[in-house]
Amino acid sequence: MKASENKATLSFSNGGQNVELPIYKGTLGPDVIDIRKLYAQTGMFTYDPGFMSTASCESAITYIDGDKGELLYRGYPIEQLATNCDFLETCHLLLYGELPDQGKKTSFTKLVTNHTMVNEQMQFFLRGFRRDAHPMAIMTGLVGALSAFYHDSTDINNPKHREIAAIRLIAKMPTLVAMAYKYTVGQPYMYPKNDLSYAGNFLHMMFATPCEEYKVSPVLERALDRIFILHADHEQNASTSTVRLCGSSGTNPFAAIAAGVACLWGPAHGGANEAALNMLYDIQKAGGVDKIGEFIKQVKDKNSNVKLMGFGHRVYKNYDPRAKLMQETCKEVLGELGLENDPLFKLAMALEKIALEDEYFVSRKLYPNVDFYSGIVQRAIGIPVPLFTAVFALARTVGWIAQLNEMIGDPDYKIGRPRQLFEGSVKRDVKPIAQR
Ligand code: ACO
Repeated sequence: MKASENKATLSFSNGGQNVELPIYKGTLGPDVIDIRKLYAQTGMFTYDPGFMSTASCESAITYIDGDKGELLYRGYPIEQLATNCDFLETCHLLLYGELPDQGKKTSFTKLVTNHTMVNEQMQFFLRGFRRDAHPMAIMTGLVGALSAFYHDSTDINNPKHREIAAIRLIAKMPTLVAMAYKYTVGQPYMYPKNDLSYAGNFLHMMFATPCEEYKVSPVLERALDRIFILHADHEQNASTSTVRLCGSSGTNPFAAIAAGVACLWGPAHGGANEAALNMLYDIQKAGGVDKIGEFIKQVKDKNSNVKLMGFGHRVYKNYDPRAKLMQETCKEVLGELGLENDPLFKLAMALEKIALEDEYFVSRKLYPNVDFYSGIVQRAIGIPVPLFTAVFALARTVGWIAQLNEMIGDPDYKIGRPRQLFEGSVKRDVKPIAQR
């Protein structure tokens, strides 16, 4: 951390003593005021629900400039990674800090590929779920259960354990998501195939059956790989912060990632891709493009509780760069599948156009986020809507584990323990039950 020559001075209107606070400069982005000693110096906490102005950690992994609409993984723009690299190269970058050369890429791919199978017992564990269970309920359980199967990589304080757990998680997530899907449709599980790419293997495990040969479409493989790259990390979002907080207690990596999966499930976060597609279905059912005006009116009505899903972002106050790339992929996939006139895609384009011109959205800087288009792509690939967020979790696993390992590897890390402004009852005595 580089201290700035500038210092912040906190003064109090009641004449209390001024407090000088250090300021640190990052390589990019806003400076931060160090308030760690504030409580010791003043007996006061800061108050920031939702972390609107709080940097919760130091990180060197991902940087977002929300005003510019810029996303960098380890300094590389997302547009360059999405067009020049594949997902496993991106995983290498996020985990180890650098893109691999050909030799490192080959060995990293081999390493991940060697861990794609899951313990055979896992399928018996899966069998305990109802067939109609939501895939994210299954994923939360399965990922947490990994800690019961891989005892040799559960010591978060051991760097070797952390590294093996990272590889295992990246390698096994596609297998688990595909198993969760196969279970709900009652088809046999397909074992991973090591001669396929990471995305190709996922398509194979999802859509192949033992009855016939499955040929992976290169366009769909590339589209899926791009979905994975675009969702791989996004600095200190809700699920990543959950993973960090959970891991800060020293729990094992599988348990911490399961906490991230649970957080991602929410519709304000990863669940938005599912919610965005369901919203498009609802508008379609109600009458399609002609009903957009009515729908937008509802969205603008504060009492309706209706949101334009796939729009808006805590950090991006400009077009989400991932949404642009996703829109491109969407056109490519629909073209490959002969679905250029897909009514849902047309509806999404019309909705986006109207929203981008509407004063309500313009004044609030609400732009499409990645989820606005990723649902349409996934649906075109054949991925069922309830599985969308599980695919997001699969892709985000590398970001979660890279961020977790960065935190644990930092000698200064502490258990996360926010404080509160207490508004409840002051101390009082328990009365005997007859007098309450
Ligand atoms: N539709 C309608 N109005 C919206 C939307 C939306 N999608 N998003 C924000 N607004 C409005 C809010 O009502 C608020 O209006 P007000 O100032 O008149 O009260 C204003 O815009 C600011 O929004 P906040 O909710 O305060 O912004 P916040 O940063 O807390 O929320 C969030 C961001 C949760 C993503 C929000 O935009 C949202 O709910 N979007 C829809 C869900 C979604 O697409 N989530 C995916 C996020 S990306 C991801 O996880 C990959």
